[in-house]
Amino acid sequence: MTSKLKTIGVVGAGQMGAGIAQVCAAAGFTTLLSDKDAASLKRGADFIATTLSKSVKKGNLAAEASAATLKRIRSVRDLNELAGADLVIEAVVENFDIKAGLFKELDRVLPPHALIASNTSSISVTKMAAATSRPDRFIGVHFMNPVPVMALVELIKGLQTSNETFVTISEFVKVLGKTSVLAIDSPGFIVNRILVPMVNEAIYLLQEGVKAEDIDTAMKLGTNQPMGPLTLADFVGLDTLLYILQVLHRELGEDKYRPCPLLVKYVEAGWFGKKTGRGFYTYSR
Ligand code: 3HC
Repeated sequence: MTSKLKTIGVVGAGQMGAGIAQVCAAAGFTTLLSDKDAASLKRGADFIATTLSKSVKKGNLAAEASAATLKRIRSVRDLNELAGADLVIEAVVENFDIKAGLFKELDRVLPPHALIASNTSSISVTKMAAATSRPDRFIGVHFMNPVPVMALVELIKGLQTSNETFVTISEFVKVLGKTSVLAIDSPGFIVNRILVPMVNEAIYLLQEGVKAEDIDTAMKLGTNQPMGPLTLADFVGLDTLLYILQVLHRELGEDKYRPCPLLVKYVEAGWFGKKTGRGFYTYSR
């Protein structure tokens, strides 16, 4: 399987963007990792280097393959440097206005044939596509965290996404070594629509007095999940989780999506999970 795409831009060098850049480069694509914040860009690039070097040390990756992957990634601050990209994948903060502003810029910078994809976890793809002058060449491509490890990518067609765009992206995802599923453009798509209410329910149980460790052990050993729901919540980020629940609650309009008050409190306290050192568990940083 080959792809007609050659150069991939990834905007946003957080944990998702860095992971996406890593898998694109590992699959042989020239990859431009972009972030307007210099510190975030460096953190993202360093994270990729560290992840690859850990895999080499464990004997899971050849040192040459790691070096070749790193060589294919270039960090860029200025969006104008994405002018040669065939596809840009957006992985910035889950905020429609910020994303729409970025898409307008990308529209200006990118050549007409270039595709734009969003790694959104919950925002309407149709609405984001409409913020560009190329809604037929816009698609939702939702990777799972940690991107280098997780085999799934959800593809989401907006109302105006062309079949050609869908086919090109489906092939691209195969080249990345991932399996894609086609979701509908509805809040939470498939995975978060099912996963996030489950995690929310676990937080209700914690609020009602069940111990965090017991909730996680029950779900790990009782349903063979690799992480219990509260560990997973800390891993994904409680702020992200709350945001997705708010979107599900608001847009689907059902009480079953109401964020657990304990989750709201934790986010208000700045306890976002692993990334801040404290969530349902504490982490040394
Ligand atoms: N980034 C990159 N690579 C990572 C990583 C990270 N954050 N964490 C682990 N890895 C890599 C390791 O480098 C290692 O690679 P190697 O085999 O080449 O050396 C491999 O993953 C296995 O790592 P470990 O042995 O350290 O860890 P575990 O075997 O304990 O697995 C896990 C860790 C893969 C995170 C596993 O616990 C797991 O699958 N957890 C569930 C993850 C999940 O459900 N994700 C979906 C979240 S929902 C989502 O993403 C949607 C979003 O919109 C919210």
